[in-house]
Amino acid sequence: MLNSYLDVGIQSRINRIISPKDNRTVMLAIDHPYFQGPTTGLHDMSKTIKMLMPYCDCLMTTRGAVRHNISADVLGSKPIMLRVTGGNSVLFEELSDERITVTIKEAIRMDAAGVAVSVFIGSPNQQRTILNLTDMINEAEEYGIPVLAVTAVGKTMARDLRYLALASRICQDAGARIIKTYYCDEFDKLVKACAPTPVVVAGGKHSSAPEALEMAYKSVQAGAVGVDMGRNIFQDDNPIGMIKAVRAVVHDNMTPKEAMDIYQSCAGEACKLE
Ligand code: 5RP
Repeated sequence: MLNSYLDVGIQSRINRIISPKDNRTVMLAIDHPYFQGPTTGLHDMSKTIKMLMPYCDCLMTTRGAVRHNISADVLGSKPIMLRVTGGNSVLFEELSDERITVTIKEAIRMDAAGVAVSVFIGSPNQQRTILNLTDMINEAEEYGIPVLAVTAVGKTMARDLRYLALASRICQDAGARIIKTYYCDEFDKLVKACAPTPVVVAGGKHSSAPEALEMAYKSVQAGAVGVDMGRNIFQDDNPIGMIKAVRAVVHDNMTPKEAMDIYQSCAGEACKLE
Protein backbone atom coordinates (compact mmCIF):
# COMPACT_ATOMS: atom_id res chain seq x y z
CA MET A 1 0.00 0.00 0.00
CA LEU A 2 1.24 3.51 -0.77
CA ASN A 3 2.27 5.53 2.27
CA SER A 4 -0.07 8.35 1.31
CA TYR A 5 -3.02 6.11 2.16
CA LEU A 6 -1.70 5.38 5.62
CA ASP A 7 -1.65 7.30 8.84
CA VAL A 8 2.12 7.16 8.50
CA GLY A 9 3.27 8.00 12.04
CA ILE A 10 0.76 5.66 13.67
CA GLN A 11 1.57 2.82 11.29
CA SER A 12 5.31 3.31 11.62
CA ARG A 13 5.07 3.10 15.42
CA ILE A 14 2.76 0.06 15.26
CA ASN A 15 5.35 -1.61 13.01
CA ARG A 16 7.91 -1.13 15.79
CA ILE A 17 5.56 -2.76 18.29
CA ILE A 18 4.08 -5.57 16.15
CA SER A 19 6.47 -7.06 13.62
CA PRO A 20 5.16 -6.46 10.09
CA LYS A 21 7.04 -9.63 9.04
CA ASP A 22 4.64 -11.97 10.82
CA ASN A 23 2.13 -9.58 12.42
CA ARG A 24 3.10 -10.91 15.86
CA THR A 25 4.59 -9.44 19.03
CA VAL A 26 5.98 -10.43 22.40
CA MET A 27 5.41 -7.46 24.64
CA LEU A 28 6.96 -7.63 28.09
CA ALA A 29 4.70 -6.09 30.75
CA ILE A 30 6.66 -4.49 33.58
CA ASP A 31 4.23 -1.87 34.86
CA HIS A 32 2.88 -3.58 37.99
CA PRO A 33 4.33 -1.25 40.68
CA TYR A 34 2.09 1.55 39.38
CA PHE A 35 -0.68 0.17 41.59
CA GLN A 36 0.83 -2.67 43.61
CA GLY A 37 4.16 -1.18 44.72
CA PRO A 38 7.01 -3.64 45.36
CA THR A 39 6.37 -6.69 43.19
CA THR A 40 8.03 -10.11 43.24
CA GLY A 41 10.47 -10.29 40.36
CA LEU A 42 10.72 -6.51 40.16
CA HIS A 43 12.48 -5.69 43.45
CA ASP A 44 15.48 -4.86 41.31
CA MET A 45 13.59 -3.59 38.30
CA SER A 46 16.74 -2.42 36.49
CA LYS A 47 18.13 -5.96 36.65
CA THR A 48 14.86 -7.54 35.44
CA ILE A 49 14.62 -5.13 32.51
CA LYS A 50 18.28 -5.51 31.55
CA MET A 51 18.00 -9.31 31.62
CA LEU A 52 14.74 -9.65 29.66
CA MET A 53 14.66 -6.64 27.34
CA PRO A 54 16.83 -8.27 24.63
CA TYR A 55 14.19 -10.97 24.16
CA CYS A 56 11.03 -8.86 23.90
CA ASP A 57 9.69 -6.92 20.91
CA CYS A 58 8.34 -4.10 23.04
CA LEU A 59 8.55 -3.14 26.71
CA MET A 60 5.31 -2.01 28.36
CA THR A 61 6.29 0.05 31.34
CA THR A 62 5.90 3.26 33.31
CA ARG A 63 7.44 6.72 33.35
CA GLY A 64 9.36 5.90 36.53
CA ALA A 65 10.87 2.79 35.00
CA VAL A 66 11.90 4.58 31.81
CA ARG A 67 13.56 7.30 33.89
CA HIS A 68 15.27 5.13 36.46
CA ASN A 69 15.33 1.46 35.50
CA ILE A 70 16.40 1.21 31.87
CA SER A 71 20.15 1.53 31.70
CA ALA A 72 21.57 4.02 29.21
CA ASP A 73 23.23 1.29 27.13
CA VAL A 74 19.92 -0.40 26.29
CA LEU A 75 17.62 2.64 26.31
CA GLY A 76 16.13 2.98 22.82
CA SER A 77 16.96 -0.61 21.83
CA LYS A 78 13.30 -1.64 22.04
CA PRO A 79 10.10 0.36 21.60
CA ILE A 80 8.34 1.47 24.77
CA MET A 81 4.61 1.16 25.36
CA LEU A 82 4.21 3.77 28.09
CA ARG A 83 1.46 3.32 30.69
CA VAL A 84 -0.26 6.68 31.04
CA THR A 85 -3.08 5.94 33.47
CA GLY A 86 -3.10 5.19 37.19
CA GLY A 87 -4.03 6.85 40.45
CA ASN A 88 -4.98 3.92 42.67
CA SER A 89 -3.40 1.20 44.78
CA VAL A 90 -4.07 -2.34 45.94
CA LEU A 91 -4.82 -0.92 49.41
CA PHE A 92 -8.18 0.20 48.09
CA GLU A 93 -10.76 -2.46 47.18
CA GLU A 94 -11.98 -0.61 44.06
CA LEU A 95 -9.11 -0.30 41.60
CA SER A 96 -11.01 1.34 38.79
CA ASP A 97 -10.76 5.00 39.81
CA GLU A 98 -8.00 5.91 37.36
CA ARG A 99 -7.01 9.14 35.64
CA ILE A 100 -4.55 10.04 32.93
CA THR A 101 -1.23 10.41 34.76
CA VAL A 102 1.25 11.21 31.97
CA THR A 103 0.81 13.90 29.32
CA ILE A 104 1.22 13.14 25.65
CA LYS A 105 4.14 15.63 25.52
CA GLU A 106 5.94 13.65 28.21
CA ALA A 107 5.28 10.40 26.29
CA ILE A 108 6.76 11.95 23.13
CA ARG A 109 9.73 13.31 25.12
CA MET A 110 10.35 9.77 26.36
CA ASP A 111 10.21 8.43 22.79
CA ALA A 112 7.21 6.19 23.50
CA ALA A 113 6.15 4.09 20.52
CA GLY A 114 2.66 3.90 22.02
CA VAL A 115 0.73 4.74 25.16
CA ALA A 116 -1.42 2.41 27.27
CA VAL A 117 -4.68 3.34 28.97
CA SER A 118 -6.71 1.01 31.21
CA VAL A 119 -10.49 0.86 31.02
CA PHE A 120 -12.66 -0.78 33.68
CA ILE A 121 -15.88 -1.66 31.88
CA GLY A 122 -18.79 -2.48 34.22
CA SER A 123 -17.07 -0.84 37.20
CA PRO A 124 -18.30 2.23 39.11
CA ASN A 125 -15.72 4.21 37.08
CA GLN A 126 -16.61 2.82 33.68
CA GLN A 127 -17.43 6.19 32.12
CA ARG A 128 -14.44 7.98 33.60
CA THR A 129 -12.04 5.31 32.29
CA ILE A 130 -13.62 5.18 28.81
CA LEU A 131 -13.26 8.96 28.67
CA ASN A 132 -9.61 8.61 29.79
CA LEU A 133 -9.20 6.39 26.74
CA THR A 134 -10.97 8.67 24.28
CA ASP A 135 -9.25 11.81 25.66
CA MET A 136 -5.85 10.14 25.24
CA ILE A 137 -6.73 8.90 21.75
CA ASN A 138 -7.83 12.41 20.73
CA GLU A 139 -4.49 13.84 21.89
CA ALA A 140 -2.13 11.01 20.92
CA GLU A 141 -3.45 10.62 17.38
CA GLU A 142 -2.62 14.27 16.69
CA TYR A 143 1.04 13.30 17.10
CA GLY A 144 0.85 9.90 15.40
CA ILE A 145 1.05 7.90 18.65
CA PRO A 146 -1.04 4.71 18.80
CA VAL A 147 -3.04 4.04 21.97
CA LEU A 148 -3.25 0.56 23.46
CA ALA A 149 -6.38 -0.05 25.53
CA VAL A 150 -6.10 -2.45 28.47
CA THR A 151 -9.37 -4.12 29.44
CA ALA A 152 -8.63 -4.20 33.16
CA VAL A 153 -10.73 -6.59 35.20
CA GLY A 154 -10.02 -5.28 38.72
CA LYS A 155 -10.52 -7.84 41.48
CA THR A 156 -14.08 -8.89 40.70
CA MET A 157 -14.88 -8.75 36.98
CA ALA A 158 -15.64 -11.98 35.08
CA ARG A 159 -13.12 -13.15 32.49
CA ASP A 160 -15.55 -14.78 30.09
CA LEU A 161 -16.17 -14.16 26.40
CA ARG A 162 -19.29 -12.11 27.00
CA TYR A 163 -17.51 -9.65 29.27
CA LEU A 164 -14.13 -9.51 27.54
CA ALA A 165 -15.60 -9.18 24.04
CA LEU A 166 -17.88 -6.39 25.24
CA ALA A 167 -15.00 -4.53 26.88
CA SER A 168 -12.63 -5.08 23.94
CA ARG A 169 -15.16 -4.02 21.31
CA ILE A 170 -15.88 -0.83 23.21
CA CYS A 171 -12.13 -0.07 23.18
CA GLN A 172 -11.97 -0.63 19.44
CA ASP A 173 -14.96 1.59 18.89
CA ALA A 174 -13.33 4.32 20.98
CA GLY A 175 -10.40 4.25 18.54
CA ALA A 176 -7.77 2.11 20.28
CA ARG A 177 -5.10 0.89 17.84
CA ILE A 178 -4.19 -2.19 19.91
CA ILE A 179 -6.31 -4.00 22.50
CA LYS A 180 -4.91 -5.86 25.49
CA THR A 181 -7.27 -8.30 27.12
CA TYR A 182 -7.38 -11.72 28.80
CA TYR A 183 -7.66 -15.12 27.17
CA CYS A 184 -11.04 -16.87 27.44
CA ASP A 185 -12.85 -19.81 25.81
CA GLU A 186 -13.93 -19.12 22.21
CA PHE A 187 -11.30 -16.39 21.99
CA ASP A 188 -11.53 -16.36 18.19
CA LYS A 189 -14.96 -14.72 18.57
CA LEU A 190 -13.43 -11.87 20.55
CA VAL A 191 -10.71 -11.39 17.92
CA LYS A 192 -13.34 -11.35 15.16
CA ALA A 193 -15.49 -8.87 17.07
CA CYS A 194 -12.52 -6.47 17.21
CA ALA A 195 -11.07 -7.09 13.73
CA PRO A 196 -9.01 -5.60 12.20
CA THR A 197 -7.66 -4.12 15.43
CA PRO A 198 -4.81 -6.28 16.79
CA VAL A 199 -5.40 -8.02 20.11
CA VAL A 200 -2.68 -8.99 22.61
CA VAL A 201 -3.24 -11.17 25.64
CA ALA A 202 -2.17 -10.41 29.22
CA GLY A 203 -0.50 -13.22 31.12
CA GLY A 204 -2.36 -12.87 34.40
CA LYS A 205 -1.16 -14.26 37.75
CA HIS A 206 1.96 -16.41 37.74
CA SER A 207 0.92 -20.02 37.05
CA SER A 208 3.41 -22.51 35.58
CA ALA A 209 5.48 -22.49 32.40
CA PRO A 210 3.38 -25.16 30.60
CA GLU A 211 0.11 -23.44 31.54
CA ALA A 212 1.28 -19.98 30.47
CA LEU A 213 2.65 -21.35 27.19
CA GLU A 214 -0.62 -23.16 26.56
CA MET A 215 -2.51 -19.91 27.08
CA ALA A 216 -0.17 -18.02 24.74
CA TYR A 217 -0.46 -20.78 22.14
CA LYS A 218 -4.27 -20.89 22.22
CA SER A 219 -4.38 -17.08 22.01
CA VAL A 220 -2.25 -16.76 18.87
CA GLN A 221 -3.90 -19.76 17.24
CA ALA A 222 -7.25 -18.03 17.84
CA GLY A 223 -6.00 -14.87 16.11
CA ALA A 224 -4.25 -12.77 18.78
CA VAL A 225 -1.14 -11.02 17.45
CA GLY A 226 0.75 -12.00 20.57
CA VAL A 227 1.05 -11.44 24.28
CA ASP A 228 1.74 -8.61 26.67
CA MET A 229 2.99 -10.84 29.46
CA GLY A 230 4.57 -9.96 32.77
CA ARG A 231 4.42 -12.15 35.89
CA ASN A 232 4.48 -15.45 34.02
CA ILE A 233 7.88 -14.39 32.69
CA PHE A 234 9.63 -12.38 35.39
CA GLN A 235 8.28 -14.45 38.31
CA ASP A 236 9.26 -17.75 36.71
CA ASP A 237 12.28 -19.63 38.11
CA ASN A 238 13.74 -19.56 34.60
CA PRO A 239 12.75 -16.13 33.19
CA ILE A 240 15.02 -16.19 30.14
CA GLY A 241 13.91 -19.73 29.25
CA MET A 242 10.33 -18.59 29.64
CA ILE A 243 10.53 -15.52 27.41
CA LYS A 244 12.42 -17.51 24.74
CA ALA A 245 9.71 -20.20 24.88
CA VAL A 246 6.97 -17.57 24.61
CA ARG A 247 8.73 -16.13 21.54
CA ALA A 248 8.78 -19.57 19.94
CA VAL A 249 5.04 -19.98 20.49
CA VAL A 250 4.23 -16.48 19.25
CA HIS A 251 6.66 -16.05 16.35
CA ASP A 252 7.28 -19.65 15.26
CA ASN A 253 3.87 -21.18 16.04
CA MET A 254 5.58 -23.81 18.20
CA THR A 255 3.34 -25.96 20.35
CA PRO A 256 3.66 -25.56 24.13
CA LYS A 257 5.36 -28.97 24.25
CA GLU A 258 7.98 -27.93 21.67
CA ALA A 259 8.47 -24.60 23.42
CA MET A 260 9.04 -26.40 26.74
CA ASP A 261 12.17 -27.95 25.18
CA ILE A 262 13.51 -24.42 24.66
CA TYR A 263 12.54 -23.57 28.24
CA GLN A 264 14.34 -26.66 29.59
CA SER A 265 17.43 -25.97 27.50
CA CYS A 266 17.90 -22.68 29.41
CA ALA A 267 17.29 -24.24 32.84
CA GLY A 268 21.04 -24.57 33.53
CA GLU A 269 21.55 -20.80 33.48
CA ALA A 270 18.23 -20.05 35.17
CA CYS A 271 18.38 -17.07 37.51
CA LYS A 272 15.29 -16.37 39.62
CA LEU A 273 14.54 -12.68 39.93
CA GLU A 274 13.71 -11.28 43.35
C1 5RP B 1 -3.31 -5.31 33.80
C2 5RP B 1 -1.97 -4.73 33.45
C3 5RP B 1 -0.84 -5.12 34.33
O1 5RP B 1 -0.23 -4.09 34.99
C4 5RP B 1 0.16 -5.98 33.67
O2 5RP B 1 0.61 -5.41 32.44
C5 5RP B 1 -0.35 -7.35 33.48
O3 5RP B 1 0.63 -8.25 33.07
P1 5RP B 1 0.57 -9.76 33.60
O4 5RP B 1 -0.87 -10.06 33.94
O5 5RP B 1 1.04 -10.59 32.45
O6 5RP B 1 1.47 -9.84 34.79
O7 5RP B 1 -1.84 -4.02 32.47
O8 5RP B 1 -4.26 -4.32 33.90
